[in-house]
Amino acid sequence: MREMEEKVARAYAERFGGPPEIVASAPGRVNLIGEHTDYNGGFVLPYAIERRVAVAAGRGEGGLFSTDFDELRGLTTDREGVWADYPRGVLWALREAGHDVPGFRAAFAGDVPRGAALSSSAAIETATALALDALFGLGASRKELAVFCRRAENEFVGVESGIMDQYASLLCTEGSALFVDCRSLDAEEVPLDARAAGLSLLVCDTRVERGLGETGYNERRRQCAAAASTLGVKELRDADEGDLEKLSGEELRRARHIISENGRVLRAVEALREGDFAGLGGLMYASHASLRDDFEISTPELDAFVETARENGSWGARLTGGGFGGCAIALLPDPETLKSSTRRKFEGERFREPAFYDFQPSPGAEVVG
Ligand code: GLA
Repeated sequence: MREMEEKVARAYAERFGGPPEIVASAPGRVNLIGEHTDYNGGFVLPYAIERRVAVAAGRGEGGLFSTDFDELRGLTTDREGVWADYPRGVLWALREAGHDVPGFRAAFAGDVPRGAALSSSAAIETATALALDALFGLGASRKELAVFCRRAENEFVGVESGIMDQYASLLCTEGSALFVDCRSLDAEEVPLDARAAGLSLLVCDTRVERGLGETGYNERRRQCAAAASTLGVKELRDADEGDLEKLSGEELRRARHIISENGRVLRAVEALREGDFAGLGGLMYASHASLRDDFEISTPELDAFVETARENGSWGARLTGGGFGGCAIALLPDPETLKSSTRRKFEGERFREPAFYDFQPSPGAEVVG
């Protein structure tokens, strides 16, 4: 067991007076490319990171305990705007799908940075779903569990997210990114070994916290739906560059991002398969420009990191995740120079001190005990 999993098993035993029946854990993710495309029926290419949320669970009363918040919450059916809404939402979604899940008690612990666009919320959902599936013998597939978790997030928690984060957390494998067609829900591993090419994947957390509910996320989703409706297509996945002349203003900018980003994901998958990291890097820079100028979800901090990355010889860099704060990722040979240049730049601009992570593609969710 990983340290986090042992910690959560101990916390369960202390809190509930006996060992857990099941221990599971699930990772956060970084998205290599393909942003805001998932809820438009498009393509994404995330990979799982080594930071995880662990859950220890068992049958019976006692509630939900978080070691991180040192807090016990009830397994209620109400939403309270707190961390416990995620496991509650998963239970709700499993029951909505007709699974006969009785109550349970559980302890949680995690080290996925929260509010950093690294999918800490998907990690707690998917860890819970996998644990409950094993505990009660539900026999659901990982893809089905991902869909239940997204439903929990959309309808219980109230964030209209797509499927990317839950998919990444449940289906990613060590050493690979996951290419997902978010319409068919087909997923394919694409080996990602930047180290073998002498490159690092450096993640910069700007520490501008974002909560999806409070940002323009749901608003972007509505704008994309509006552009699709103007074009008379089901989703922007069905539109191409030729359609753009029928749009103007905000709808044009939003649609141009989605259409071009879908194309970039397909080219990125090809580039990775050919070991063409220079090609991948160029697509990352283009993705960032599109998210900044057309989708308008970047921040001064994210832009400053991407520019500093460019000045320091990065092959590519872009914001990753929902935007409006959180993290960016750079592909480059020399992360140490970029780290110190970024720290200097952020200090000069009076931004918060950034945090850096060197995340390698890590295993997806697992039942470990
Ligand atoms: C968040 C959502 C995802 C996806 C990304 C943007 O992480 O949860 O579904 O839309 O933003 O790509």
